[in-house]
Amino acid sequence: MGWLYILCLFNVILVTQAQSGRSLACHQRWTLIFANSANGTTVYGEKDELIKATLSGADVRIFIPSWGPGGYLTSIQNTQTIRNNVCAQALFHVSKAAYDTFQEVPYFWFVNLCSTGHVHMARYFIGNHVSAGINGDYVDMQWYIRQYPDPVYSHTQDGTVISGNVRDVIYATEAGADIRIVDRQLGYGVRMDNMEVSYDRTVAAGQSLWHVSERMNGPNLEFQGDDYWWFSVWSTDGTVDISRWNVGEHVKRGNSSMQQSMNWYADSCWQMAYKHDADGLLEDGSLELLRLAVETGHRVKVLIDGAITVEPDQINVRGGHINAEILSLASKQDLKTFTDDVFWDWRVLATTGTETSEYFNVGEYFNRGNTIKKKPMTWFIDTRTWNRVLVNEKDGTVLAGSKQQLIDAILLGAEVRYKLTFTSNAITHQADNLEISADGNVGAMHVRSVSLKFTPGSAYEVTFQNSPYWWFTIVSTTGKVDISRWTVGEHVNRRHTHLFVKVEWFVSF
Ligand SMILES: *[C@@H]1O[C@H](CO)[C@@H](O)[C@H](O)[C@H]1NC(C)=O
Ligand SMILES: *[C@@H]1O[C@H](CO)[C@@H](O)[C@H](O)[C@H]1NC(C)=O
Repeated sequence: MGWLYILCLFNVILVTQAQSGRSLACHQRWTLIFANSANGTTVYGEKDELIKATLSGADVRIFIPSWGPGGYLTSIQNTQTIRNNVCAQALFHVSKAAYDTFQEVPYFWFVNLCSTGHVHMARYFIGNHVSAGINGDYVDMQWYIRQYPDPVYSHTQDGTVISGNVRDVIYATEAGADIRIVDRQLGYGVRMDNMEVSYDRTVAAGQSLWHVSERMNGPNLEFQGDDYWWFSVWSTDGTVDISRWNVGEHVKRGNSSMQQSMNWYADSCWQMAYKHDADGLLEDGSLELLRLAVETGHRVKVLIDGAITVEPDQINVRGGHINAEILSLASKQDLKTFTDDVFWDWRVLATTGTETSEYFNVGEYFNRGNTIKKKPMTWFIDTRTWNRVLVNEKDGTVLAGSKQQLIDAILLGAEVRYKLTFTSNAITHQADNLEISADGNVGAMHVRSVSLKFTPGSAYEVTFQNSPYWWFTIVSTTGKVDISRWTVGEHVNRRHTHLFVKVEWFVSF
């Protein structure tokens, strides 16, 4: 009996140690680290801890209790330390008439949230450079973070090694990892939207596209008015290339380059799921594993051309195949530099091996062409825990879990993804922002989608439409999907409608 007990205990210890090793990196929960009142006083935690976390590459999410009847949780695209405060840009919002409905003529609503309690908001109509208002306000904020392990690589302005090895950034990129940088001079932290490794595998460079121009005003960062997108490419040799483009029009505001001292962070919460050749034939892993992961809420990345990894902004499952819509990719002339004239390098990547590309100038409806190619791809899935907390039927009936579980997760800063089941395909999205309604429902907004269609003659693939439009959606727990459509690069309304669909909700705490 004594031996059995010891044996069991031994097993428990082994399991516990194995799990705690992983839990450090991949099972760390979103943690409330700091909360400020509207007047800037600390109501929870310490501001210094928030600053320390953002300067150590942490991911951030912010909950604002006073936005909407039950509160509002937003994703954050980048953070910056300014004096002894942190400001965070949250850019993915399209204006709403209710928690589950867009306005008829909506605008992009960019917010800059600072730990002083100050929030600055700039609004632009969709598809043109027309402001719909700019103002400041003060709100209570709850700051949630998820920490990264120590930097894998750290260098000075001129690219001299301080610690780690550039090879670890390259290995992590090739393993599908999330890559973040902290610019130590600017106190700036951001996750790369895509990564590319040089042909000789000595340099890696990541693009960050979701940043709107800002300026300091006292202890806060604010939008400037007449705003532009600040596209950047960050390279492991210290080079940063910047290209600036007016919000809503194809007007260049210049380009520049700088040398910055950076820390590079990588998570290890990814595994290879499926690798296929240009004909979509299996080389490693399994399509079933990839599809199962997609359908249970997991994030996905794709490696193409042996060099570029990127996360899809929307995933379509059709006829058992995975189609990844890639929107967060802009044209470069070489590894580290944007082209002079910048265009979107949008793609749909399918597990059949098909890659469809569409090239649109940023800020205008100007199609520079498209290509269809067959190529080998490697697909990665995240190994974090995604809990299915709710399944609602298209009429809102709860089939599994409960709305309260979803709301409880949102109140803890959790990331939310969801799957929409249509008759002959399914779509998965991450929620860019989430609003809790007065009657205990949730509306989840997704901004980065461009209209697709079933590829003629294929039972598996989807592709771009001829005259594509932005497909903004709010999916709610009542089963309603509100859709606002705007021609890519133009202020042209392509209809505001809604439909009803079965939704499965997944959360990562
Ligand atoms: C700031 O806000 C907090 C919480 O709302 C409140 O308790 C405190 O009295 C306020 N302080 C000032 C100086 O207004
Ligand atoms: C701007 O970009 C062009 C190439 O696209 C480059 O030749 C030029 O040097 C860049 N200017 C600056 C200031 O970096």
